[in-house]
Amino acid sequence: MKVEDIRKMFPALDASVYGKPLVYFDNAATAQRMDKVLSLMGDLSAYHNANIHRAVHKLAGDATDAYEKTRDLVKEFLNASSREEIVFTSGTTASINLVAFCFGEAFIREGDEILVSEAEHHSNIVPWQLMCQRKKAVLKPVPVDDDGYLRLDVLENMISSRTKLVAITQISNVLGIINPVKEIVNICHSKGCKVLIDGAQGVVHSGIDVQDVDCDFYAFSGHKLYAATGTGVLYGKKELLEEMPPYMGGGEMIGTVSFKETTFAPLPEKFEAGTQNFNAVPTLGPAMEFARSVASDSEIVSYNEKVRDYLLEALLSDDRIRLFGVPHRTIDKAPVFSFAMKGVHHEDLALILDKMGIAVRSGQMCAEPVMDRFGVTGMLRASIAPYNTLEEAEYFIKSLEKAAAMLA
Ligand SMILES: Cc1ncc(COP(=O)(O)O)c(C=O)c1O
Repeated sequence: MKVEDIRKMFPALDASVYGKPLVYFDNAATAQRMDKVLSLMGDLSAYHNANIHRAVHKLAGDATDAYEKTRDLVKEFLNASSREEIVFTSGTTASINLVAFCFGEAFIREGDEILVSEAEHHSNIVPWQLMCQRKKAVLKPVPVDDDGYLRLDVLENMISSRTKLVAITQISNVLGIINPVKEIVNICHSKGCKVLIDGAQGVVHSGIDVQDVDCDFYAFSGHKLYAATGTGVLYGKKELLEEMPPYMGGGEMIGTVSFKETTFAPLPEKFEAGTQNFNAVPTLGPAMEFARSVASDSEIVSYNEKVRDYLLEALLSDDRIRLFGVPHRTIDKAPVFSFAMKGVHHEDLALILDKMGIAVRSGQMCAEPVMDRFGVTGMLRASIAPYNTLEEAEYFIKSLEKAAAMLA
């Protein structure tokens, strides 16, 4: 596959903004949608729109089949051992909140500890804070070093007999450093605590084999993986999900309901209360297929690496730029580049770049603790997808210089 072939699959990439061709470098926030995703969602909404799992009519059967087939595809994609371990949610945030609440109810007692890294997205901090407040447990941050690497030695020492769970990102949405999740799980399991991996960025750039890594929970969002918004996945080991109480009550998550006693549905329905996002969930199918085909195509993998290496080199060689997340080896870095530029404010840079057709993220990126760690109030972030080209990367670097000169 060539990058031009990939670009043809994403209609948004043909857009112009302010008369300039769009350069979309905000992929870590949300990726663009493939035509297959858009047409599938349109087709399901137009011709197969019926609530799932309920009625006996043909439309309901089609919608249910599309939804449940997707569960099998997700199971394969993550290499989970059973489809009961795949719970559909609205995204990573919902998946982590589910675990924080239900794992908390089942397993956390007063004085227990949860560890997260200081480079987590708020989605992997605040749900644990809420749970710790409720259960009188303690949330502790594990530091990252000056280059943005998680301090594994400190993590190991911080795990005590009271540590029940470590919640860690596979790839920070700010630093882009790829955490050695298998090693982290090994350390945690050897000390008797469970591990949740926030795969919001990791699923896009590294993928995961949940049996190989042996994590207890894995969360990701469809919209960062080219699928429809409002889709997400929670993988959880069956024995843990079985022991956890339901998250929300409502239709579909029950066995029987009476005022005397209500019983709950088996997995995974126990965690899928109410009407599900059935027109959107099936878009995970073509999105995962695309992600897999990109990852296994050596031509496109080496092209994407070339774009990443060009940006890394260009940003590191400019002494006005402070890059956050400096890899010791290029393979440790996903194409997520957050930086600050001496003498210019990130928001001003982002506004000027926008006028040049370049969409980047600026600000705190839902990760205030990591801003504090590096002593800044915000950063500028360029995050790259397989459809981004070397020419776009070169245009970005030139435009950045121009914008900085305008602001100097
Ligand atoms: C690392 C990480 N975790 C969690 C999230 C939250 O994802 P969502 O807003 O799709 O629930 C994000 C989104 O940017 C992220 O990058």
